[in-house]
Amino acid sequence: MEFIRVGAVAEIPEAEVRAYDLPWGRVAIVHLEHRLFAFSDECTHQGCSLAEGEFDDRAGTVKCACHDSVFDVETDEPLAGPAQDPVPVFVAREVQGWVEVANAQGEDDGAQGPGRG
Ligand code: FES
Repeated sequence: MEFIRVGAVAEIPEAEVRAYDLPWGRVAIVHLEHRLFAFSDECTHQGCSLAEGEFDDRAGTVKCACHDSVFDVETDEPLAGPAQDPVPVFVAREVQGWVEVANAQGEDDGAQGPGRG
């Protein structure tokens, strides 16, 4: 599994969400009780940014700002709202003050081309 360094842990204050552009798409990272959770920034309902939603650090949930779908940041399952599918998750870790993220979905699709032209 290949980890990509995305930024300093200090850039993600406790109980806040930040989004980063990675090769697999935009990834939202949550810093919660000294743990890091990473998941797709795209809501599975209609693709709004989850990092721009509302994070509830006590419940460990993020609410999409568009239509109020709520996702558990630990399991990434939708708990409420119109979204039916969980958001894709990634592995996040801290290494010497840096946040690193890996694509844990087992699909080595690094060869994704630009596609249609
Ligand atoms: S796009 Fe997130 S709830 Fe609709």
